[in-house]
Amino acid sequence: MTGITVLKIGGSIITDRSSHIPRALPEEINRIAREIFGVYDNLILVHGAGSFGHIFARQFRLTERFDARGLIQTHCSVKILNTMMIKALASEGVPGVPVHPFCNCLLEDGRINEMFFSHIRVMLDQKLVPVLHGDVVMDTVKGIDILSGDQIISYIADKLGADKIGVGSNTEGVLDDEGITIPSITPGTFDKIRVYITGSSHTDVTGGMLGKVQELVELADTANIESRIFNGAIPGNIRKFLEGISIGTHIRMDTQSQ
Ligand SMILES: Nc1ncnc2c1ncn2[C@@H]1O[C@H](COP(=O)(O)OP(=O)(O)O)[C@@H](O)[C@H]1O
Ligand SMILES: [Mg+2]
Repeated sequence: MTGITVLKIGGSIITDRSSHIPRALPEEINRIAREIFGVYDNLILVHGAGSFGHIFARQFRLTERFDARGLIQTHCSVKILNTMMIKALASEGVPGVPVHPFCNCLLEDGRINEMFFSHIRVMLDQKLVPVLHGDVVMDTVKGIDILSGDQIISYIADKLGADKIGVGSNTEGVLDDEGITIPSITPGTFDKIRVYITGSSHTDVTGGMLGKVQELVELADTANIESRIFNGAIPGNIRKFLEGISIGTHIRMDTQSQ
């Protein structure tokens, strides 16, 4: 059996992030499903919430306070996007199944404290593709908080011992101040590079590019797990990543700690 691959698909590539109402990009969702067909052995997918989550999270200020109406509206909204993804995968012949973080995760002050994933192992044994997503989740300190897809991938990769992690977002990788893709980032070089990295250009409650890189540098540092951030909006890139071709920015451990 091959090792586990965890692939995150950014909300920015499957939804219209500039929209003021939740708006999906069905052609992009279908394209991504086609790229995954045939290369989904031991694959866990995680997609961002995009405009299906960030708009309500901002409107109800869900990262700051408990709000029952906002919680329900946000969770129902991100589930609609997840269902679109599941249906697109099914129509392309990929057996994706939903795993809603609201139902299997517990946060402590914004960080995952518990996550039930025994069923994810059985799903992989049965050749299914679990599909998780950014969601609103109960939090022992704050009542609720937003759990980003970026935090999910690093947690799950660590706990399940993934050996391939990819983050498909909407830039070529992590860019420097001249817009050039930084080939690799390690825990040792991150401090110098972080001045170039900020949040998202859209409504984003989970940290944009900086949030991703922080999660993945920490994962390289603490669990020796490498990852890649690449442009998932360019047709063919998701398949390239799944086939093991080197693209985007490589986030890895420092050479001396290997
Ligand atoms: N140095 C950087 N390199 C690439 N993207 C950056 C950088 N700094 C900030 N960003 C922003 O982060 C965005 C990606 O994060 P985000 O919008 O949260 O995407 P996703 O939907 O994939 O999570 C980019 O589109 C860009 O606007
Ligand atoms: Mg994001």
